[in-house]
Amino acid sequence: MSFEFFVPCPRGLEAALAAELADTAANRLPPGALQPGAEVPGGVHFRGNWAGGMAANLHSRIASRVMLKIAQRPYRSEQDVYALAREQRWEQWFSANETLRVDVTAIKSPLRSLEFATLRVKDAICDRLREVSGARPSIDTALPDVRVFAFLTATDCTLYLDTSGEPLFKRGWRLDKGAAPLRENLAAGILRLTGWTPGTPLYDPMCGSGTFLAEAAQVALAIAPGIDRRFAFEKFRQFDSAAWRHLKSAATAARDDARRAARDLQIYGSDISGDMLDKARANFQRAGLANVPLKQVDARDMAPPAATPGIVVANPPYGERIEVRGRNARGEARPTARSLRESNGDDEGFRRAQTDAPDSEFFQALGDALKQRFTGWRAFILTSDRKLPGQLRLRESAKTPLYNGALECRLFRFDLIAGSVRQRPANADGASEDGAQKPV
Ligand SMILES: C[S@@+](CC[C@H](N)C(=O)[O-])C[C@H]1O[C@@H](n2cnc3c(N)ncnc32)[C@H](O)[C@@H]1O
Repeated sequence: MSFEFFVPCPRGLEAALAAELADTAANRLPPGALQPGAEVPGGVHFRGNWAGGMAANLHSRIASRVMLKIAQRPYRSEQDVYALAREQRWEQWFSANETLRVDVTAIKSPLRSLEFATLRVKDAICDRLREVSGARPSIDTALPDVRVFAFLTATDCTLYLDTSGEPLFKRGWRLDKGAAPLRENLAAGILRLTGWTPGTPLYDPMCGSGTFLAEAAQVALAIAPGIDRRFAFEKFRQFDSAAWRHLKSAATAARDDARRAARDLQIYGSDISGDMLDKARANFQRAGLANVPLKQVDARDMAPPAATPGIVVANPPYGERIEVRGRNARGEARPTARSLRESNGDDEGFRRAQTDAPDSEFFQALGDALKQRFTGWRAFILTSDRKLPGQLRLRESAKTPLYNGALECRLFRFDLIAGSVRQRPANADGASEDGAQKPV
């Protein structure tokens, strides 16, 4: 049987997600099980069977969820929305014993209250199940067994049954977070945009809790992102447990093969904070990753961790979310290896060592480090600050708009080619928004 699915993702990663779904279809499924369709802002449609839906959940690093399309119809009122939801055969998917949550999102909907629309969808599903089974499901907004999403446009209402459960960026390994951790699926999408492939050196000099590094190491070790978690579809009445066991055992075998063949992953991280590095180490352990060397280094003092050029990727502190550390405004000594040692790497000790220069000094020094020591590397930096290239005194080769939650960001690419690092004058701060291009 064939179904329609919609796979939401962080905005800006739709093409990367479509490419990833196409890889899953080509490498892990029989022909026709997953056929990627249209890319729309915020996600990708695909058509496929149950194995396709389950494989997308198990293997997509970029998806936020995988949603099964149940129905779509024009509407004008809450009553129309209720009627559409009331007609659906929800009982073929779940029973009144499962707990339920309903969410409604809308773009240009004529309805006055989305809260009321949400109640009407919930009532319709409960009324339907009571009619066919004599019982109503309980509502659980925190940890529901079943999630139904209604999406309202100016004209149409679409109902989806979520097949994922907890969002897919929750892989199960990241318990230790910093102040501004990157979502795992955004980090994975950025890695794909950088063109990084296993075997190429990868370095995150502001690694925080280690999200880029863990995602990359899992790719290198063929660890499927969903291998250690549960999914909502496992509770569905139509759950095909034999097909699921088959998909999981193929993923486990691929991981075991990759682990046996694993050499030096060439994935490296550093951060100025010893606390953050401890969190990253704990995360790597939970994610089944050894062999990711981490060092406590101020990013201005960074040096290439590998002899062959590779890719630097980072999301530096954003002004409003987390501050740059180790600054040096008033000519005071910034933390040295010794002061860091004396602070035992703990944040409190570190705070005592820090001064408060404007961030621009930090970024200028960071740009110098890239120019002087990373010849031949490509650097990708995610930031909400469009002036970053000016602050680094580097000219970007490409910039890609991306959203980190609600925060609009740019992924800047800098090609640090020998003798031709494209510098920009110190006063060329305002990066033009025209002609934004995607990395090739
Ligand atoms: C936005 S966070 C990075 C989050 C990370 N990508 C993650 O997913 O957890 C910025 C990181 O930069 C680090 N940092 C701040 N100043 C630094 C400096 N001068 N040198 C190196 N790291 C620094 C912070 O400790 C923090 O972990």
